[in-house]
Amino acid sequence: MSARPEGFGAVASVFRPDAIGQPVRLHGWVLRSRSSGGILFFVLRDRTGVVQITARRDALGAEAFDAAEHVQVEGSVEVEGTVAEDRRAPGGREVRASAVRVIDAGEPFPIFVEQTEEFRLDKRHLVVRSQDLVATFRIKAELLRAVREFFDREDVLEVTPPILSGNAAEGGAEAFQIDYFGRSGYLSQTAQLYLEALIFPNERVYALTPSFRAEKSRTPRHLTEFWNLEVELAWCDLAGLLDFEERMVVAVAGWLAERRPAELKALGRPPEELTALAAPFPRLTYAEAIDRLAAQGFPVRWGSDLGTAEERALTIEEKTPVFLTHFPKELKAFYMLRSPGDPRTVEAADLLAPEGYGEMIGGSCRETDLGRLTERLTASGANVAEYDWYLDLRRHGSVPHAGFGLGVERMLRWILRRKHIRETTPFPRTPSRHTP
Ligand code: 4AD
Ligand code: MG
Repeated sequence: MSARPEGFGAVASVFRPDAIGQPVRLHGWVLRSRSSGGILFFVLRDRTGVVQITARRDALGAEAFDAAEHVQVEGSVEVEGTVAEDRRAPGGREVRASAVRVIDAGEPFPIFVEQTEEFRLDKRHLVVRSQDLVATFRIKAELLRAVREFFDREDVLEVTPPILSGNAAEGGAEAFQIDYFGRSGYLSQTAQLYLEALIFPNERVYALTPSFRAEKSRTPRHLTEFWNLEVELAWCDLAGLLDFEERMVVAVAGWLAERRPAELKALGRPPEELTALAAPFPRLTYAEAIDRLAAQGFPVRWGSDLGTAEERALTIEEKTPVFLTHFPKELKAFYMLRSPGDPRTVEAADLLAPEGYGEMIGGSCRETDLGRLTERLTASGANVAEYDWYLDLRRHGSVPHAGFGLGVERMLRWILRRKHIRETTPFPRTPSRHTP
């Protein structure tokens, strides 16, 4: 079966060079309509675009015309007609209808621009039809296509780790706990530990999975459920990791600029800005960042965690992402490798988006020493016995390795300059909302 029922064309076909004077049969949804003096004008949309339809009472017949006139915004119709030039119509063309068949006239559509954000979130299942969100999710799909292409070229294998787990990998406090047949289980915060197991047979692996964080962070960059794109590379050190990340970001940005320029422009990101991104990205150690922030008057010193305001200050003037490296080990997860030159820090790097958007990638080299890893795990307050399977990875052919997680919605928020991260996902999950 074809994607479109026999005999129907796409709205985009109306704008082909040879379409003038041709008959067309379209179906779709009414974006807006108005009627005056026996002529109904409406804009029809389908997944390929929008087109003006002009329907005359004398062409349709009184009964069909009356029915068409009563179709609400977002009602669905079928149209038959002929393509004609019309300089006032969007795209310079219209379809002069010979027949309009109402599929569902619809109830009055409840969504208007000036409604409160809360109401729009309550009606998210209808708001997803808005042009901005349509463009956003097409770019999101393109971004996922771009990363898969990149990983294919880099010979990184896609794998499918579990979402349900008996371990809380990034720290128990922020994991959603579930009842797993009477035992405690968690929704995955990261696939990392499983990816680490999978580098031994495959060396280079990645996974795209939902990740869950039970943080009550009400900020424009936190979701409780987000898409985590995680990569794990055997035989990789920090320099190799940053090099890989930067090539990936440049490749994805370039791909989007090439494949989705119209959507990018519509959402306020000139594609040339993405094409202009180039490696290497600036690198800043945590210590240098602290000095810089202190000089700007931030009340920070060695050991301070860097939050939204600090990340913003570090990148607000930048046009390129910035790596922040070598954090104090107390600020980071138990599995990060102690820096060879400085036992106080770990071989980790966060990639901060430019223009103040904040962290979009968190990555590190992994501790391979069984003793040190066990020590850090114990210090983190975790139940070491639950991680025994993970410690096995250091007992059987352990090798230097590194990896990272990229928050897909974080990256998209920067690329599309969205005020809030919820605008990058169809049904955002935040502490105050898990419906619709
Ligand atoms: O920095 P995070 O917590 O790192 C990890 O989970 C590592 N285990 C990844 C790895 O090395 N395999 O999360 C990775 C990325 C962050 O940089 C951020 O972009 C995104 O996930 N992220 C969130 N995105 C939206 N809402 C949240 N609450 C997020 N928390 C993390
Ligand atoms: Mg992080």
